[in-house]
Amino acid sequence: MLDLEFVRGQFPAFAEPSLEGWAFFENAGGSYTCQPVIDRLTRFYHQRKVQPYAPYPASEAGGAEMDEARSRLAGLLGVETDELSFGPSTTQNTYVLAQAFRQRMMPGEAIVVTNQDHEANSGPWRRLADDGIEIREWKIDPETGHLDPAALEKLLDEKVRLVCFPHCSNVVGEINPVREITALAHAAGAWVCVDGVSYAPHGFPDVGELGCDIYLFSAYKTYGPHQGIMVMRRALGEALPNQAHFFNGDTLYKKFTPAGPDHAQVAASAGMVDYIEALAAHEGVAPREVAGLMHAHEVTLMQPLLDFLGNRNSVRLLGPRDAAHRAPTVAVALQGRQRRRRGRWRSTGSWQGAAISTRCARCRPWASIRRWACCGSPSCITPRSTRWKSSSRRSTGCCDAGGLTLPRGRYLSAGQQGKPPCQSHPPSSSGSAATCG
Ligand SMILES: Cc1ncc(COP(=O)(O)O)c(C=O)c1O
Repeated sequence: MLDLEFVRGQFPAFAEPSLEGWAFFENAGGSYTCQPVIDRLTRFYHQRKVQPYAPYPASEAGGAEMDEARSRLAGLLGVETDELSFGPSTTQNTYVLAQAFRQRMMPGEAIVVTNQDHEANSGPWRRLADDGIEIREWKIDPETGHLDPAALEKLLDEKVRLVCFPHCSNVVGEINPVREITALAHAAGAWVCVDGVSYAPHGFPDVGELGCDIYLFSAYKTYGPHQGIMVMRRALGEALPNQAHFFNGDTLYKKFTPAGPDHAQVAASAGMVDYIEALAAHEGVAPREVAGLMHAHEVTLMQPLLDFLGNRNSVRLLGPRDAAHRAPTVAVALQGRQRRRRGRWRSTGSWQGAAISTRCARCRPWASIRRWACCGSPSCITPRSTRWKSSSRRSTGCCDAGGLTLPRGRYLSAGQQGKPPCQSHPPSSSGSAATCG
């Protein structure tokens, strides 16, 4: 098991009196920031907040720190330094990518998207249908949420140029076999774009080893600042047209970032690697091995919870029963138990020191559970956690938060039938659900 005291010591939030006693299960909203990121951000704003890369000390230091962030993150992810770039968010990164593909693709060519994805890796691609691009939907099993590679094979042919899917489901947490799926897509001549936003907080993957062409995640969920991080492998990056200022078109890491980056946040992102390296040194492993330690720790914490939930009659556990096959996002269908308060959703549900916010049903993962109809039950909740919760915290957090041990009427109802569509997230033309948040 990881040394949790050491891990918690890297996050000032754990020493923050106003947060004492709270367990947060909504990591979709982002993780708390580790100390090295905060230190770097503060230093940048104090000492280096000038135009970077000019020949004077503050500017040189700022530019060097931005370069350091890219090269150290790229090293951790197993890719070349110029294959890693920053953008304002993952959604904006995919939006820019979709424009690049739109310029390269011909009407009649196809893109495969899933209905397991967050809206970020779905909507921007689906909109290319307006340009005559065929959109094929790789559908999950409505009972389990599982995305079956065999079903993808049936969608692949010589027309498919790109296959988009998530590293793990942000509802049932199931980890998709990225290497296997990538091999299938590549064999059919298609590029591969993986949304790693739900996965990366639980361990930075070796993207080089996964083999995909694009890998996206959001630093604000991996203990960093509010940035989207994109790996674009060279072969694809060189094949796609420039989306940035014309003078940046020859530089791979600038080519898909239309505007100037947030210098301070890019620089501060090196702090995420400081944290991983400090943890690696403390645990006596190489930095790339930290992901495995995190996963092992999470499996140990999660398996008893999965066993507990899996044996309840009042709820149905969604997704794999084996913790090794999922990220610690736990979804349960509340069998026949849902609560509507004065006909409306609560904006925030909180009780017993656990916080899960509920926003509009179309935006949230559990909305897709509802539309998957995977439960015959309209309600489900998806608490997520990151690994620094201890077992004792888990028992006062997750289990209670599952609505399982709470007093009657105090569980959080996170599903609702007949809810009017969210205006900002209309359903796709196929009626399928992408999720966001
Ligand atoms: C799985 C997944 N993908 C993508 C996103 C979008 O990320 P961003 O907010 O950086 O656009 C989210 C946000 O919660 C997410 O959960």
